[in-house]
Parts: sequence; C-alpha cells; structure tokens
Amino acid sequence: MLECFKDMREGIALLKRFLVQRAYTRKLILWAQEDGVISALEKSGVFTAQGYLSALETGLGYKMQDEARRRMALVLLDFLEESGRLKAMPSREAMRTYAVVPDARLPEPLSFTDMEMMESVLESKTAFLDRCIERAGGFLRGKDYLYDFDGSRMVDAGEAWDRFLGNYEFNLAREFLAKAMSADVADTARREIMDLCCGTGHGIEAISRSRPDAVITALDFTDTLRPIALARAASSGARVLWPSAVWKGFGHGLPFEDSRFDMALFSCGDPYIRQEEREAVYAEIKRVLRPGGVLGAVAWGYPDKQRRHIRNSWVRLGVYIHDFAESVCAGWQGFHDIDETVRMARRLGFIPANPFFDDFYMLDTAVWTFKKPEAARRG
Ligand SMILES: C[S@@+](CC[C@H](N)C(=O)[O-])C[C@H]1O[C@@H](n2cnc3c(N)ncnc32)[C@H](O)[C@@H]1O
Repeated sequence: MLECFKDMREGIALLKRFLVQRAYTRKLILWAQEDGVISALEKSGVFTAQGYLSALETGLGYKMQDEARRRMALVLLDFLEESGRLKAMPSREAMRTYAVVPDARLPEPLSFTDMEMMESVLESKTAFLDRCIERAGGFLRGKDYLYDFDGSRMVDAGEAWDRFLGNYEFNLAREFLAKAMSADVADTARREIMDLCCGTGHGIEAISRSRPDAVITALDFTDTLRPIALARAASSGARVLWPSAVWKGFGHGLPFEDSRFDMALFSCGDPYIRQEEREAVYAEIKRVLRPGGVLGAVAWGYPDKQRRHIRNSWVRLGVYIHDFAESVCAGWQGFHDIDETVRMARRLGFIPANPFFDDFYMLDTAVWTFKKPEAARRG
C-alpha cells in the first residue's frame, strides 16, 4: 500500500482525510464515557478546570497530585471541549467554566473503505494509540508507565517504538523536513548532520534519502534502541558516525565542539524535554551548528485556545489525542506552546523559518526549521 503514496502530495492528500483523527475522536469520547469521566462531570454541574481535576480525583480515583497525570487529564479536558462533549463558558481564561453537553452526538464511525485505508496505511500509529489508550485509565489511577526508552519496563519496547515511529505520517513529516532543511542551507561540499535523539534510525533514513552525501552523527541518551538504528542505517547505506562519548540526555551538554554541524535533525524528541530545560537544550543545538546552519524539528505545537495557529478542528483533536495517549510513556512532557517555541527561538538568536501552510494537516504545526544566522550573534 505504501508504494501507492510515494508522491508526497498524494500522501498529504491522504492525511488530509483525517482518518485517524475521526476514528480516534470517537474512540476517546467512548473511552471517557466508559471510564466514568463524563458521568463524574455530569454530577459536577458547572465546573472550573480545578473542579474538573477534583471530580476525577474523588469520583474516579485519578491521581491528580501527580504532575504527569494532572497534565494528561487537562489535555483530556481540552479534547472534550474541542470535540463538543463539553461546553466552555469563556469568561476570562483563568475562570473558564465548563459543563457537559447533554446528548452530544458522537462522530460517525469511519466507513468500511476509510477504515480499510486507515488500517492498511496507518496501522502502526493506531496500534500504538490503542495500546496507550488501553493503559490510560490504569495509568491515571496510579499504574506504572507503559513504555520507556531504556527498556526497563518492557522487553520489546524497542520494537514497539520502532513500529510506531515508522508510521506513514511521521515518515512523511521527516521527509518533508529533510527537504525543507536542505533548501535552507547554502550548498557546501560538506554535509555534517546531527540526528539528535536518533531513536531507531528513521531520521537517518530520511536524511540519507534526501542527502545521500551526508555524514550523519547519530546521538541518543540510551543504547537500547541502538541495535535497531544500526540495522536501519546499514540497510539505508547512510554514512553514520556513532559517537563513543556518553550523552546523559536533555539538561546535559552535547558532546561536540562548537559549530561542528551543517544541520541538526531533531525529530519527535521535543515533547520529552522538560519545560525548564527546553531553552538550554536548544541553545546547545545552536552551539554545535555552524553559522548559517539549520535545525529541523518535527514536533506538534499544542493547539492554541485563540485558534490563531491551528484552526482546523481535526488537527486540534489529533494533537490532543496524541498528547493524551503518549502521556502513558515515561518522560513525556507534552507538546509545547507554539508562541513560546517561536519566542524561545528568537531569544536564542535563531531565525525561525517554519514552512507554515494553512490547512496542511500536521505540517501546519509539526515541521519547524530554525536557522543560525551567518554572522553568529553572541550567546
Ligand atoms: C519519540 S522518539 C523519536 C526518535 C527519532 N528521533 C524518530 O524521529 O523516530 C523520542 C526520542 O527521544 C529520546 N529521549 C527521550 N527522553 C530523553 C531525554 N530525557 N534526554 C534525551 N533524549 C531523550 C529517546 O531516546 C528517543 O530517541
């Protein structure tokens, strides 16, 4: 089936049918009903976000004192509002109140043809979402995380990540990004590219397809996924360097000298950075880029309430669903605010060059390029 979508425009057209978003909006609303969320809220009448958290804590035993679980529940609140299951009375943001919409209609199930299409093209994404949503109720009540990256919780975590990360949508985003990055960097003989948080090597594959001459330095904070990345790198024919220096992860300096790389790919790693460390992580990436070099990131932005950045409701719902589901993975911090990302990039002296389009599905908010100025500013 994937062969049918070699052309990116066809792929984008497929993603713009919002199959996953439609199917999983229905699924997550049903989950919220079955887990008791909707009836706990019905009992609360009109409630604030704080009242919502208290209702879930007292009514359902959700552990709302825990930061990761509280955040996950708040993502669900935004999802329920966006999907029309809750109505918000938008007074001032801090005093926003909500009420359950009686008899709100569920989105229609996908047609047989759409379901077949989703299962054949996006199964590796939906299988992951299914497992995460299945864990959601238990996790919110205090059960352990489902997946992590160091393999301490599950023996086959590497394979599970690999299948999920290799889904059609992410591959398309990486391919789009690799092309956008190349277009942003003046041609030089050398192509030193860092793949930060390389995971199981899907980024290596995307880079080597768009830049067969690249020398890719692949870095991650754990070796657990390395065997899969090594195999993928070997079959793609990419020239990859695997630094022996240990990197302990976000919050620690990158083990490279200044201005070492022409480009940095940072795909699907951003939502694992804690807010307080985020600026330092990007400052480090900037340090190791040469002047004129470019950082390309794949990371959804969290839908803004004002709907200035993300207007399309299916895109918004899709981001909420993803954020909610992946919250059951250890280390997940959630998608970051779009304005904050742009402000941070500017503070650091990057030139944001985000190829934003109006209704391009996830490419609206998920693909970022930031350029380090030719004449590097101080800091
Ligand atoms: C969702 S995977 C993305 C992997 C890969 N870049 C891709 O696009 O397929 C997230 C990556 O972030 C890394 N990661 C998670 N938490 C991290 C941390 N605290 N410090 C550094 N890297 C981390 C993981 O090892 C993993 O490679």
